[in-house]
Amino acid sequence: MNKKVLNIRNLKNKKKLVCLTAYSKPVAKVLDNYCDVILVGDSLATAMYGMKNTHSVSIETMINHGLSVASSINKALCVVDMPAGSYKNKSEAKKNAKLIIKKTKCDAVKMECNNKNYHIIKSVVDSGIPVMGHIGFTPQYYRKFKAQGLDQKDRFKLIDQAKKNQDAGVFSIVLECVKTDVAKEITNLLKIPTIGIGASKFCDGQILVTDDMLGLSGFYPKFVKKFTNLNNIINKAVKKYKISVDSGKFPNKKNNF
Ligand code: KIV
Repeated sequence: MNKKVLNIRNLKNKKKLVCLTAYSKPVAKVLDNYCDVILVGDSLATAMYGMKNTHSVSIETMINHGLSVASSINKALCVVDMPAGSYKNKSEAKKNAKLIIKKTKCDAVKMECNNKNYHIIKSVVDSGIPVMGHIGFTPQYYRKFKAQGLDQKDRFKLIDQAKKNQDAGVFSIVLECVKTDVAKEITNLLKIPTIGIGASKFCDGQILVTDDMLGLSGFYPKFVKKFTNLNNIINKAVKKYKISVDSGKFPNKKNNF
């Protein structure tokens, strides 16, 4: 296993893993100063491309953004999401995971679990490609948002999924919108780090979609904390620009050649 990946796996119980998403070079460069993991998430479908969900992002799109991010960072581990439909069976999964790694030079891929694809996840791991797992609310397999682990049956299902992902060889696992006590139980059970999004402070690390936590996306469910309001900041700047252009104050002598 690559050294950077091993390092992340070994950070369990040593420090909280700080993780965020990035889709572009300027954002990735800032994140690299603070994050242990940078994920090129297929959330770019909704956050960047205005799609309804993540169901139809192409592998080319993931590769283009993956390349932009992976080539801009030095420290953080770079993980690229395998898009929906790119890992339907073992051979497609291995072929596409290899392509993502080869074209982007990222460190690992992320695969969502649909409760059946453990053999596919394992085949990618066995081919030498590090895989981050993803259970709970897995957007590629749902149409409607629903918090996970709310009843006993769901709790057992999630615990089973977490163990099976670990057995398949994933080096860490995202728990998305998982009830607090279930996320805590899974985190205590697993040897690999859990990375929570809407899954409580008891996970080994946290991830958010950067556009959400910066107040840019307009998507603010209760698990998102807006750490600033970039929308307001951009609004103010663009308004100033408009006023300057309208009034003829911009460009001025200093901006001229
Ligand atoms: O696509 C994404 O950004 C993700 C994170 C929300 C974990 O999968």
